[in-house]
Amino acid sequence: RTLRIGLIPGDGIGKEVIPAGRRLLEALPASLGLKFEFVDLEAGWETFQQQGVALPDKTVTVLKNECDGALFGAVSSPTSAVKGYSSPIVALRKRLDLYANVRPVKTVVSAPKPIDMVIVRENTEDLYVKEETTRDTPEGKVAEAIKRISQRASGRIANIAGEIALRRQKIRATGSPSIHRGPLVTITHKSNVLSQTDGLFRSTAREVLTASPFRDAEVAVEEQIVDSMVYKLFRQPEAYDVIVAPNLYGDILSDGAAALVGSLGLVPSANVGEDFAIGEPCHGSAPDIQGQGISNPIATLRSAALMLEFLNEEAAAAKIYEAVDGNLSEGKFLSPDLGGTAKTEEVLQDVLCRL
Ligand code: NAI
Ligand code: MG
Repeated sequence: RTLRIGLIPGDGIGKEVIPAGRRLLEALPASLGLKFEFVDLEAGWETFQQQGVALPDKTVTVLKNECDGALFGAVSSPTSAVKGYSSPIVALRKRLDLYANVRPVKTVVSAPKPIDMVIVRENTEDLYVKEETTRDTPEGKVAEAIKRISQRASGRIANIAGEIALRRQKIRATGSPSIHRGPLVTITHKSNVLSQTDGLFRSTAREVLTASPFRDAEVAVEEQIVDSMVYKLFRQPEAYDVIVAPNLYGDILSDGAAALVGSLGLVPSANVGEDFAIGEPCHGSAPDIQGQGISNPIATLRSAALMLEFLNEEAAAAKIYEAVDGNLSEGKFLSPDLGGTAKTEEVLQDVLCRL
Protein backbone atom coordinates (compact mmCIF):
# COMPACT_ATOMS: atom_id res chain seq x y z
CA ARG A 1 0.00 0.00 0.00
CA THR A 2 1.24 3.48 -0.83
CA LEU A 3 0.18 6.28 1.47
CA ARG A 4 0.33 9.87 0.30
CA ILE A 5 1.11 12.15 3.20
CA GLY A 6 0.85 15.94 3.26
CA LEU A 7 3.60 17.64 5.26
CA ILE A 8 2.71 20.97 6.87
CA PRO A 9 5.66 22.08 9.02
CA GLY A 10 4.19 25.51 9.83
CA ASP A 11 6.41 27.80 11.92
CA GLY A 12 9.31 27.64 14.37
CA ILE A 13 10.32 24.15 15.46
CA GLY A 14 7.58 22.71 13.24
CA LYS A 15 10.26 23.01 10.55
CA GLU A 16 12.61 20.84 12.64
CA VAL A 17 10.26 18.13 13.84
CA ILE A 18 8.18 17.48 10.71
CA PRO A 19 11.26 16.53 8.63
CA ALA A 20 12.09 14.09 11.45
CA GLY A 21 8.60 12.62 11.09
CA ARG A 22 9.12 12.19 7.37
CA ARG A 23 12.42 10.39 7.86
CA LEU A 24 10.83 8.10 10.42
CA LEU A 25 8.12 7.05 7.97
CA GLU A 26 10.71 6.51 5.25
CA ALA A 27 12.72 4.30 7.60
CA LEU A 28 9.89 1.89 8.45
CA PRO A 29 10.93 -1.69 7.64
CA ALA A 30 10.07 -2.81 4.11
CA SER A 31 8.50 -5.97 5.55
CA LEU A 32 5.47 -3.88 6.53
CA GLY A 33 4.66 -3.44 2.85
CA LEU A 34 4.11 0.28 3.23
CA LYS A 35 5.38 2.97 0.89
CA PHE A 36 5.06 6.71 1.30
CA GLU A 37 4.81 9.66 -1.02
CA PHE A 38 5.12 13.12 0.48
CA VAL A 39 3.63 16.45 -0.55
CA ASP A 40 5.00 19.65 0.98
CA LEU A 41 2.25 22.05 1.96
CA GLU A 42 2.06 25.46 3.58
CA ALA A 43 0.15 26.99 6.48
CA GLY A 44 0.86 29.25 9.42
CA TRP A 45 1.98 32.69 10.43
CA GLU A 46 4.87 32.90 7.97
CA THR A 47 2.50 31.82 5.20
CA PHE A 48 0.07 34.51 6.32
CA GLN A 49 2.77 37.17 6.15
CA GLN A 50 3.80 36.08 2.65
CA GLN A 51 0.41 35.29 1.10
CA GLY A 52 -2.18 37.07 3.24
CA VAL A 53 -3.82 33.78 4.27
CA ALA A 54 -2.84 31.38 7.03
CA LEU A 55 -4.34 28.38 5.27
CA PRO A 56 -4.02 28.61 1.47
CA ASP A 57 -6.85 26.88 -0.47
CA LYS A 58 -4.21 24.81 -2.22
CA THR A 59 -3.26 23.14 1.07
CA VAL A 60 -6.86 22.12 1.71
CA THR A 61 -7.53 20.95 -1.86
CA VAL A 62 -4.37 18.86 -2.05
CA LEU A 63 -5.09 17.26 1.31
CA LYS A 64 -8.69 16.54 0.31
CA ASN A 65 -8.07 15.26 -3.19
CA GLU A 66 -4.61 13.72 -3.14
CA CYS A 67 -3.63 12.70 0.37
CA ASP A 68 -4.44 9.86 2.77
CA GLY A 69 -3.19 11.70 5.81
CA ALA A 70 -0.92 14.50 6.97
CA LEU A 71 1.56 15.67 9.56
CA PHE A 72 1.11 19.16 10.94
CA GLY A 73 3.94 20.82 12.93
CA ALA A 74 2.97 23.93 14.82
CA VAL A 75 2.04 27.48 14.01
CA SER A 76 2.89 30.73 15.73
CA SER A 77 0.08 33.07 16.56
CA PRO A 78 0.42 36.83 16.82
CA THR A 79 0.05 37.95 20.44
CA SER A 80 -2.78 40.36 19.62
CA ALA A 81 -5.55 39.90 17.07
CA VAL A 82 -4.44 40.53 13.48
CA LYS A 83 -7.14 41.25 10.91
CA GLY A 84 -7.68 38.30 8.59
CA TYR A 85 -5.59 35.87 10.62
CA SER A 86 -7.17 32.86 12.22
CA SER A 87 -5.68 29.55 13.29
CA PRO A 88 -5.11 27.23 10.31
CA ILE A 89 -5.42 24.04 12.34
CA VAL A 90 -8.88 25.01 13.61
CA ALA A 91 -9.90 25.76 10.01
CA LEU A 92 -8.40 22.50 8.76
CA ARG A 93 -10.29 20.46 11.33
CA LYS A 94 -13.49 22.08 10.15
CA ARG A 95 -12.88 21.88 6.41
CA LEU A 96 -11.81 18.24 6.48
CA ASP A 97 -14.45 17.33 9.09
CA LEU A 98 -11.83 15.92 11.45
CA TYR A 99 -14.33 15.42 14.22
CA ALA A 100 -12.13 13.80 16.83
CA ASN A 101 -9.02 15.08 18.53
CA VAL A 102 -7.20 12.16 20.06
CA ARG A 103 -4.45 12.69 22.58
CA PRO A 104 -2.68 9.77 24.25
CA VAL A 105 -0.77 10.65 27.40
CA LYS A 106 1.59 7.94 28.43
CA THR A 107 4.72 7.38 30.49
CA VAL A 108 7.10 4.55 29.71
CA VAL A 109 5.99 1.47 31.59
CA SER A 110 8.97 1.52 33.96
CA ALA A 111 8.08 5.00 35.28
CA PRO A 112 7.46 5.19 39.07
CA LYS A 113 3.86 6.28 38.51
CA PRO A 114 2.78 4.89 35.16
CA ILE A 115 0.12 6.76 33.19
CA ASP A 116 -1.52 5.48 30.06
CA MET A 117 -4.62 7.33 28.96
CA VAL A 118 -6.16 8.73 25.81
CA ILE A 119 -8.24 11.87 25.81
CA VAL A 120 -10.80 11.97 23.01
CA ARG A 121 -12.07 15.47 22.42
CA GLU A 122 -15.02 16.42 20.21
CA ASN A 123 -13.54 18.73 17.63
CA THR A 124 -16.38 20.41 15.72
CA GLU A 125 -18.90 22.08 18.02
CA ASP A 126 -19.55 23.23 21.59
CA LEU A 127 -18.40 26.83 22.22
CA TYR A 128 -15.95 26.50 19.32
CA VAL A 129 -18.69 27.18 16.77
CA LYS A 130 -17.56 30.74 17.53
CA GLU A 131 -21.04 32.26 17.36
CA GLU A 132 -20.47 35.19 19.67
CA THR A 133 -22.29 38.49 19.99
CA THR A 134 -21.82 41.61 22.06
CA ARG A 135 -24.58 44.12 22.79
CA ASP A 136 -24.86 47.32 24.75
CA THR A 137 -27.22 47.40 27.70
CA PRO A 138 -27.94 50.09 30.28
CA GLU A 139 -25.61 48.19 32.63
CA GLY A 140 -22.79 48.05 30.08
CA LYS A 141 -21.73 45.54 27.41
CA VAL A 142 -22.90 41.96 27.48
CA ALA A 143 -21.20 39.27 25.41
CA GLU A 144 -22.74 35.90 24.68
CA ALA A 145 -21.62 32.73 22.95
CA ILE A 146 -23.53 29.75 21.63
CA LYS A 147 -22.65 26.35 23.07
CA ARG A 148 -23.88 23.88 20.49
CA ILE A 149 -24.09 20.18 21.26
CA SER A 150 -25.66 17.79 18.78
CA GLN A 151 -26.70 14.20 19.10
CA ARG A 152 -24.81 13.35 15.90
CA ALA A 153 -21.47 14.82 17.00
CA SER A 154 -21.81 13.44 20.53
CA GLY A 155 -22.68 10.02 19.15
CA ARG A 156 -19.77 9.79 16.76
CA ILE A 157 -17.23 11.00 19.30
CA ALA A 158 -18.49 8.44 21.81
CA ASN A 159 -18.27 5.78 19.13
CA ILE A 160 -14.64 6.52 18.27
CA ALA A 161 -13.79 6.66 22.00
CA GLY A 162 -15.29 3.19 22.33
CA GLU A 163 -13.36 1.94 19.32
CA ILE A 164 -10.13 3.29 20.78
CA ALA A 165 -10.87 1.51 24.08
CA LEU A 166 -11.43 -1.74 22.17
CA ARG A 167 -8.26 -1.35 20.17
CA ARG A 168 -6.23 -0.72 23.31
CA GLN A 169 -7.77 -3.81 24.87
CA LYS A 170 -6.81 -5.84 21.82
CA ILE A 171 -3.18 -4.71 22.14
CA ARG A 172 -3.20 -5.65 25.85
CA ALA A 173 -4.54 -9.06 24.95
CA THR A 174 -1.34 -9.70 23.00
CA GLY A 175 0.50 -9.59 26.32
CA SER A 176 1.80 -6.07 25.88
CA PRO A 177 2.52 -4.63 29.37
CA SER A 178 -0.32 -2.45 30.62
CA ILE A 179 -1.50 -0.78 33.79
CA HIS A 180 -5.17 -1.31 32.92
CA ARG A 181 -7.16 -4.46 33.39
CA GLY A 182 -10.11 -3.89 31.09
CA PRO A 183 -11.38 -1.24 28.71
CA LEU A 184 -12.84 1.80 30.46
CA VAL A 185 -14.36 4.95 28.96
CA THR A 186 -14.97 7.96 31.23
CA ILE A 187 -17.56 10.45 29.97
CA THR A 188 -16.80 13.98 31.14
CA HIS A 189 -19.44 16.69 31.32
CA LYS A 190 -21.11 19.27 33.54
CA SER A 191 -24.70 18.20 33.13
CA ASN A 192 -25.53 18.96 36.74
CA VAL A 193 -25.42 22.64 35.67
CA LEU A 194 -25.86 22.50 31.89
CA SER A 195 -28.63 19.94 31.77
CA GLN A 196 -29.60 20.55 28.15
CA THR A 197 -26.27 20.82 26.34
CA ASP A 198 -24.00 18.68 28.47
CA GLY A 199 -27.06 16.62 29.32
CA LEU A 200 -27.43 15.69 25.66
CA PHE A 201 -23.72 14.91 25.37
CA ARG A 202 -23.90 12.70 28.43
CA SER A 203 -27.03 10.76 27.51
CA THR A 204 -25.95 10.26 23.89
CA ALA A 205 -22.46 9.11 24.82
CA ARG A 206 -23.85 6.76 27.45
CA GLU A 207 -26.33 5.28 25.02
CA VAL A 208 -23.65 4.60 22.38
CA LEU A 209 -21.10 3.21 24.81
CA THR A 210 -23.49 0.89 26.61
CA ALA A 211 -24.78 -0.66 23.38
CA SER A 212 -23.27 -3.18 20.99
CA PRO A 213 -20.36 -3.66 20.15
CA PHE A 214 -19.04 -2.03 23.32
CA ARG A 215 -21.39 -3.80 25.70
CA ASP A 216 -20.44 -7.17 24.25
CA ALA A 217 -16.74 -6.40 24.74
CA GLU A 218 -17.42 -5.39 28.35
CA VAL A 219 -16.27 -1.82 27.99
CA ALA A 220 -16.83 -0.22 31.40
CA VAL A 221 -18.48 3.20 31.21
CA GLU A 222 -18.23 5.75 33.96
CA GLU A 223 -18.95 9.46 34.27
CA GLN A 224 -17.04 12.29 35.83
CA ILE A 225 -18.17 15.89 36.25
CA VAL A 226 -15.46 17.98 34.62
CA ASP A 227 -14.26 19.86 37.69
CA SER A 228 -13.84 16.70 39.72
CA MET A 229 -12.29 15.16 36.60
CA VAL A 230 -9.48 17.73 36.81
CA TYR A 231 -8.92 16.88 40.47
CA LYS A 232 -8.82 13.15 39.82
CA LEU A 233 -6.73 13.53 36.70
CA PHE A 234 -3.97 15.04 38.81
CA ARG A 235 -4.44 12.87 41.92
CA GLN A 236 -4.99 9.55 40.25
CA PRO A 237 -3.99 9.71 36.58
CA GLU A 238 -3.22 5.99 36.49
CA ALA A 239 -6.94 5.22 36.90
CA TYR A 240 -7.89 6.48 33.44
CA ASP A 241 -7.97 4.61 30.17
CA VAL A 242 -10.07 6.55 27.64
CA ILE A 243 -11.68 9.89 28.49
CA VAL A 244 -14.29 11.39 26.16
CA ALA A 245 -15.30 15.04 26.40
CA PRO A 246 -17.01 17.89 24.55
CA ASN A 247 -14.72 20.33 22.78
CA LEU A 248 -13.95 22.91 25.49
CA TYR A 249 -13.45 20.51 28.41
CA GLY A 250 -11.47 18.22 26.13
CA ASP A 251 -9.17 21.07 25.08
CA ILE A 252 -8.43 21.98 28.68
CA LEU A 253 -8.13 18.42 29.99
CA SER A 254 -5.83 17.35 27.20
CA ASP A 255 -3.39 20.23 27.71
CA GLY A 256 -3.54 19.66 31.46
CA ALA A 257 -2.90 15.95 31.09
CA ALA A 258 0.13 16.70 28.92
CA ALA A 259 1.71 18.26 32.01
CA LEU A 260 1.63 14.86 33.73
CA VAL A 261 4.38 13.36 31.59
CA GLY A 262 7.15 15.89 31.95
CA SER A 263 7.49 17.60 28.59
CA LEU A 264 5.30 18.94 25.83
CA GLY A 265 7.93 17.49 23.53
CA LEU A 266 6.57 13.99 24.24
CA VAL A 267 2.84 14.37 23.68
CA PRO A 268 1.26 13.58 20.31
CA SER A 269 -2.23 14.07 18.96
CA ALA A 270 -4.26 13.21 15.93
CA ASN A 271 -7.20 14.92 14.28
CA VAL A 272 -9.35 12.16 12.92
CA GLY A 273 -12.18 12.11 10.41
CA GLU A 274 -14.08 9.39 8.54
CA ASP A 275 -11.12 8.45 6.30
CA PHE A 276 -8.44 11.01 7.01
CA ALA A 277 -6.06 11.67 9.90
CA ILE A 278 -3.63 14.46 10.69
CA GLY A 279 -0.88 13.78 13.20
CA GLU A 280 0.03 16.88 15.21
CA PRO A 281 2.46 17.24 18.14
CA CYS A 282 0.67 19.02 20.96
CA HIS A 283 3.38 21.62 21.47
CA GLY A 284 3.60 25.02 19.75
CA SER A 285 6.31 26.59 17.60
CA ALA A 286 8.67 27.08 20.60
CA PRO A 287 10.45 30.25 19.43
CA ASP A 288 12.71 30.11 22.50
CA ILE A 289 14.56 27.05 21.19
CA GLN A 290 14.00 27.41 17.45
CA GLY A 291 17.05 27.05 15.22
CA GLN A 292 19.25 25.36 17.84
CA GLY A 293 18.61 21.81 16.68
CA ILE A 294 17.52 20.75 20.17
CA SER A 295 13.74 20.37 19.80
CA ASN A 296 12.40 17.03 20.94
CA PRO A 297 11.06 15.15 17.92
CA ILE A 298 9.25 12.47 19.96
CA ALA A 299 5.84 14.17 20.04
CA THR A 300 5.96 14.25 16.24
CA LEU A 301 7.22 10.67 15.90
CA ARG A 302 4.37 9.49 18.11
CA SER A 303 1.94 11.67 16.13
CA ALA A 304 3.08 9.95 12.94
CA ALA A 305 2.36 6.59 14.59
CA LEU A 306 -1.04 7.79 15.73
CA MET A 307 -1.86 8.93 12.20
CA LEU A 308 -0.91 5.46 10.94
CA GLU A 309 -3.16 3.82 13.53
CA PHE A 310 -6.15 5.72 12.20
CA LEU A 311 -5.19 4.85 8.64
CA ASN A 312 -5.45 1.20 9.76
CA GLU A 313 -1.71 0.59 9.79
CA GLU A 314 -1.53 -0.60 13.37
CA ALA A 315 1.51 -2.83 12.90
CA ALA A 316 3.58 0.09 11.63
CA ALA A 317 2.35 2.27 14.48
CA ALA A 318 3.30 -0.39 17.03
CA LYS A 319 6.87 -0.51 15.66
CA ILE A 320 7.22 3.23 16.13
CA TYR A 321 5.85 3.20 19.68
CA GLU A 322 8.23 0.42 20.59
CA ALA A 323 11.24 2.26 19.16
CA VAL A 324 10.30 5.49 20.95
CA ASP A 325 9.68 3.72 24.26
CA GLY A 326 13.07 2.04 23.86
CA ASN A 327 14.75 5.39 23.40
CA LEU A 328 13.01 6.85 26.46
CA SER A 329 13.52 3.93 28.81
CA GLU A 330 17.19 3.55 27.94
CA GLY A 331 17.57 7.30 28.42
CA LYS A 332 20.92 7.61 26.65
CA PHE A 333 19.76 10.02 23.96
CA LEU A 334 17.38 12.49 25.56
CA SER A 335 16.83 16.06 24.43
CA PRO A 336 17.36 18.98 26.86
CA ASP A 337 13.64 19.30 27.73
CA LEU A 338 14.01 15.84 29.34
CA GLY A 339 17.25 16.73 31.09
CA GLY A 340 19.52 15.27 28.43
CA THR A 341 21.98 16.80 25.98
CA ALA A 342 21.00 15.07 22.72
CA LYS A 343 20.18 17.06 19.61
CA THR A 344 17.02 16.48 17.60
CA GLU A 345 19.13 14.55 15.09
CA GLU A 346 20.63 12.24 17.74
CA VAL A 347 17.24 11.40 19.25
CA LEU A 348 15.93 10.66 15.76
CA GLN A 349 18.96 8.51 14.88
CA ASP A 350 18.53 6.48 18.06
CA VAL A 351 14.86 5.84 17.27
CA LEU A 352 15.69 4.95 13.65
CA CYS A 353 18.33 2.45 14.79
CA ARG A 354 15.76 0.76 17.03
CA LEU A 355 13.32 0.58 14.13
P1 NAI B 1 5.20 26.05 23.03
O1 NAI B 1 4.56 24.72 23.09
O2 NAI B 1 5.69 26.49 21.72
O3 NAI B 1 6.41 26.08 24.07
C1 NAI B 1 6.25 25.96 25.48
C2 NAI B 1 7.59 25.53 26.12
O4 NAI B 1 7.83 24.16 25.82
C3 NAI B 1 8.78 26.30 25.56
O5 NAI B 1 9.72 26.51 26.59
C4 NAI B 1 9.37 25.35 24.52
O6 NAI B 1 10.74 25.51 24.32
C5 NAI B 1 9.03 23.99 25.11
N1 NAI B 1 8.81 23.01 24.04
C6 NAI B 1 7.70 22.89 23.25
N2 NAI B 1 7.87 21.91 22.36
C7 NAI B 1 9.08 21.39 22.57
C8 NAI B 1 9.83 20.34 21.93
N3 NAI B 1 9.34 19.63 20.91
N4 NAI B 1 11.05 20.09 22.39
C9 NAI B 1 11.56 20.79 23.43
N5 NAI B 1 10.92 21.77 24.06
C10 NAI B 1 9.68 22.07 23.63
O7 NAI B 1 4.14 27.08 23.62
P2 NAI B 1 4.25 28.69 23.71
O8 NAI B 1 5.65 29.09 24.01
O9 NAI B 1 3.17 29.08 24.61
O10 NAI B 1 3.86 29.21 22.26
C11 NAI B 1 4.79 29.53 21.23
C12 NAI B 1 4.04 29.77 19.95
O11 NAI B 1 3.39 28.56 19.53
C13 NAI B 1 2.95 30.82 20.06
O12 NAI B 1 2.95 31.60 18.90
C14 NAI B 1 1.69 30.00 20.19
O13 NAI B 1 0.57 30.68 19.70
C15 NAI B 1 2.01 28.80 19.33
N6 NAI B 1 1.28 27.57 19.70
C16 NAI B 1 0.85 26.78 18.67
C17 NAI B 1 0.23 25.58 18.91
C18 NAI B 1 -0.15 24.75 17.74
O14 NAI B 1 0.28 25.00 16.64
N7 NAI B 1 -0.94 23.71 17.92
C19 NAI B 1 -0.04 25.12 20.28
C20 NAI B 1 0.50 25.99 21.30
C21 NAI B 1 1.13 27.17 21.00
MG1 MG C 1 -5.20 23.34 23.40
